[in-house]
Amino acid sequence: MNTPTLVNQITPSDAEIKLLQTLVYQECGMFFDERRIHFLRDRVTHRLKVCQVDTFYSYYRLLTSREGKVELRALLENLTVNETSFFRARPQLELFQKTILEEVLQRKEVKKDWNLRVWSAGCSTGQEPYSLAILICDALAYYYLRHPRPFDMPSPKPMVPPPWKAEVLASDMSYAGLLTAQQGAYSEAHMEAVDYASRLRYFDRLTDKYSVKLALKSLIQFDFHNLKTDFLPQRNDIIFCRNVMIYFDEAEQKRLIEKFYHCLNPGGYLFVGHAESLFGLTNKFRMIHLNNATAYQRLEVPI
Ligand SMILES: C[S@@+](CC[C@H](N)C(=O)[O-])C[C@H]1O[C@@H](n2cnc3c(N)ncnc32)[C@H](O)[C@@H]1O
Repeated sequence: MNTPTLVNQITPSDAEIKLLQTLVYQECGMFFDERRIHFLRDRVTHRLKVCQVDTFYSYYRLLTSREGKVELRALLENLTVNETSFFRARPQLELFQKTILEEVLQRKEVKKDWNLRVWSAGCSTGQEPYSLAILICDALAYYYLRHPRPFDMPSPKPMVPPPWKAEVLASDMSYAGLLTAQQGAYSEAHMEAVDYASRLRYFDRLTDKYSVKLALKSLIQFDFHNLKTDFLPQRNDIIFCRNVMIYFDEAEQKRLIEKFYHCLNPGGYLFVGHAESLFGLTNKFRMIHLNNATAYQRLEVPI
């Protein structure tokens, strides 16, 4: 009979955890301060066990080697917080749909620029980009009703009325999150915030799940992007980066906001989470606060 191999449980020292704290920060910007260091310790201890290494040093060497890229990914996956939901922070989404989008569409129509591009940076399992796509489709349909264009409406009626084109870019550094997002199938419990009209228009009911309709899914482009890098998607009209910066330190938040500035079209907008703010981090955006919700607009001349 085979006896299972017993692997010694390695408990990393404070100095070793500090080493990892720096490595994780350099890789993805997540900063584990005193309040969250126990979470890092817990997850690393778990990975040490899974990898069955005999010393912390071997694990660290693996992480920093070319062959260790897969393990580094696995560690980072274990460290991300993926909490999200459909129509999260509704007052902010109302501000997005009723005020900001309306302003952007009017501005674009004057220039005969019919392309709208919205980026959900840190999209987790997809509820945010799908919510945005739904809000955009509804807003464009309503906008079209008030400003009809001399174009024949194809049959069946498309989700985005011509000549408008809408694209939602959904990115994350978690492959597991992106995979779930791309599948776009959600249980009843996940659908709580989705009203019946949206369920009927944008979802198919398959077995025990609600599956996002292909027509809506086709508006979304899923992609891997680590916000720590300098090569981020450009020419966005609006960026949502909510509940991501909260895990970064101030220096990394400043760097990210500067990058977002350059990723936005002139006059573009940035939305951050309700526990996040641009206050004290930049003078290149103006704050818009309306009905308990906040957005930031890129300024062409810093204040
Ligand atoms: C709490 S979720 C937020 C999801 C969604 N934005 C929302 O507000 O509901 C945070 C997401 O940020 C992602 N994330 C953290 N650091 C990142 C980085 N450096 N680059 C890209 N995504 C990152 C995580 O993988 C996770 O999916």
